[in-house]
Amino acid sequence: MAEFDSLYVWTPCCSHNINKVVSNWGQSVKNATKVEEIDPQKLSREQAAVELARLAAELLQANADYHGKDKPVITDAKYDLLKIRNTAIEAQFPDLKREDSPSEQIGGPLAEGFSKIRHDVRMLSLGNAFDPDDVDEFDARIRKYLGLSEADPLSYTAEPKIDGLSLSLRYEHGKLVSAATRGDGEVGENVTANAKMIANVPQTIADAPELLEVRGEVYMSHEDFAALNRAQESVGAKNFANPRNAAAGSLRQLDAKITKARPLAFFAYAWGALSEPLAKAQLDAIERLGKFGFQINPLTKLCAGPKELVAHYKHIEMARPDLGYDIDGVVYKVNDLDLQRRLGFRSTTPRWAIAHKFAAELAWTHLEAIEIQVGRTGALSPVARLSPVTVGGVVVSNATLHNEDYIKGLDSKGAEIRGGKDVREGDFVQVYRAGDVIPKVADVDLAKRPESALSFEFPVTCPECGSAAIREEGDAVRRCTGGVICPAQVVEKLKHFVSRGAFDIDGLGAKQVEAFYHDDQLKVLEPADIFTLKSRDAEGLTKLKNRDGWGDTSVSNLFDAIDERRKIPLNRVIFALGIRHVGESAANLFARHFSTWEDFNKAVRDAEPQDGPAWDDLMSIDGVGAVMAASLTQTFAQEREYASISRLVAELDIQSVERPSQDGSPVAGKTVVFTGSLEKMTRAEAKARAESLGAKVSGSVSAKTNLLVAGPGAGSKATKAAALGIEVIDEDAWLVLIGDA
Ligand code: IVH
Repeated sequence: MAEFDSLYVWTPCCSHNINKVVSNWGQSVKNATKVEEIDPQKLSREQAAVELARLAAELLQANADYHGKDKPVITDAKYDLLKIRNTAIEAQFPDLKREDSPSEQIGGPLAEGFSKIRHDVRMLSLGNAFDPDDVDEFDARIRKYLGLSEADPLSYTAEPKIDGLSLSLRYEHGKLVSAATRGDGEVGENVTANAKMIANVPQTIADAPELLEVRGEVYMSHEDFAALNRAQESVGAKNFANPRNAAAGSLRQLDAKITKARPLAFFAYAWGALSEPLAKAQLDAIERLGKFGFQINPLTKLCAGPKELVAHYKHIEMARPDLGYDIDGVVYKVNDLDLQRRLGFRSTTPRWAIAHKFAAELAWTHLEAIEIQVGRTGALSPVARLSPVTVGGVVVSNATLHNEDYIKGLDSKGAEIRGGKDVREGDFVQVYRAGDVIPKVADVDLAKRPESALSFEFPVTCPECGSAAIREEGDAVRRCTGGVICPAQVVEKLKHFVSRGAFDIDGLGAKQVEAFYHDDQLKVLEPADIFTLKSRDAEGLTKLKNRDGWGDTSVSNLFDAIDERRKIPLNRVIFALGIRHVGESAANLFARHFSTWEDFNKAVRDAEPQDGPAWDDLMSIDGVGAVMAASLTQTFAQEREYASISRLVAELDIQSVERPSQDGSPVAGKTVVFTGSLEKMTRAEAKARAESLGAKVSGSVSAKTNLLVAGPGAGSKATKAAALGIEVIDEDAWLVLIGDA
């Protein structure tokens, strides 16, 4: 399946309440073709059965990845959504609920290697709330169940939801006798030896009930997590993605000695089997656990009702970046233990407790500093250095600040963003992260701005080379004018030169090229130096093979890989030069148009100054605009740049690119639009093939369009084309037309 042009995939919002989710599905499903994207309320019985089977399988796999292997593959937010969708479909078709329904399951399959312990009292999971309305509903449900009116007092505890893994510790006559993970809720793994290695887990407790099972969360602090990852790196082992994975991986070691070396800690927040009650109220019971020597959470608070619960949630959310450990929400529990007993449990969750989760993609943290990075084209890019915070399962310590206007609170058109709030060093900021998108600063808490925080002065000189940094009219970006004298630009250009799509030399990535740039002897200061490396190394005193990380084989492989790349197609060379506005598709365009380096070079050199016939020729190429052409001709007109390019070209054997033969092409000169999903090729492939046959590919339908190729899911473009009387064909007909069928 290739690309879609109509947005029908449901996008989650921050609030995952079932009803809201269902209505979102409804809104966005217009063109849905896949069962998994259909609103649960609109599924047929057959579709619902298929969906429930798919969700059971996906959730089973997700549980196995998360609990069994400690290596989650999908995000927590995606997991929640799958579960919510499953529940919504089960509510719609109760009789289709499967024996292996995910809503009846906690945790995942047990890992092999540990013996098993059956829990006397099941270890349960918690239902979720995502917004204040859900908290009101939680309170209302409880009151209804207990027959309490709105006026009756009903208090709750609120405490951080620790993002680790749960553990049950069994004490008999005050002595720790066994410890088990949650497992599937009924049977857990016997991790007694490992639990005994956790520094703040008491081995013995005084004046305790004869039988006491203490339950809580094993976690790793941010500081210990960072140190562990540094240690992992130093021995070439893989990093842990976040503290939760590190804690889980460390506790579930078959060799307890390894656990001992890992800095784990434990928070107590619940209990299992007991020979006598601990207290009459949740808060008192937890305080008793504290007196027995367990670490209990200082942010646990008694609250009179939903309003106070949500206020404490906000307080904890703000305290989150300074806690030094990960939390992913706030847990509310009915305080009166008698009422807890009356309320009891649903199949996997207590009626008397709920987890109010933080939005998965958002977190507040401190902005410690704003640093300026200089890119290949001289762009000064501000980066926010943050106190590390886990957002959506990934530790975030940097966020992009784009440019100086963005820092000021303005977008590219001068309109306000973040309500016009600027961003300063020392600020308390909300960080946003979705999918693979680079984290951004979504909001600033002005109430928490230190008095000493000054508005950020964007530099007007390059922090790397001291050259003037200027902003051209209409450009949001300030750029260093240093060119080849700016070390940052030079290094970034070299990194680009060896990147994929450019020279892509095996064994010569960004890291190596940067090291060679700084190496006094290897001195790779420009691309041509890569190709003279072998001969210069032969003459040098300290050979590359004697440097850290290199040996005879890797050096000889590298030199072979470099030599192999001397023969290279023209388009790659043009792209590799890293000229501003000349990306991969522009490079392809020039290569196809000029075919040889000699023709391309002559055309570009002749086009300066930009007003003669050569300039007009360059501008007449379909797809070449003035900005791109000017950037290219100016680069070739700078003698130092041009000398460097010429030195490179002298090292290469540039392959000419065939001018596509358009003789007899049925689509030469035609304007073609692709829409809907393509099944036999990607959009990029379809576009390249059409262009090679002399067609112009456009993204939108207009009166100039000659042909619309519409795959399944084609939306408004197909309607518009039909209205304009434009010929519409499907993908197969297109392939027949161009002779590729
Ligand atoms: S109470 C019967 N309190 O969250 C309910 N759980 O998503 C017992 N968790 O399985 C759990 N912090 O592993 C409770 N303060 C806290 C918690 C907490 C983290 C975990 C626990 C539970 C899971 C449910």
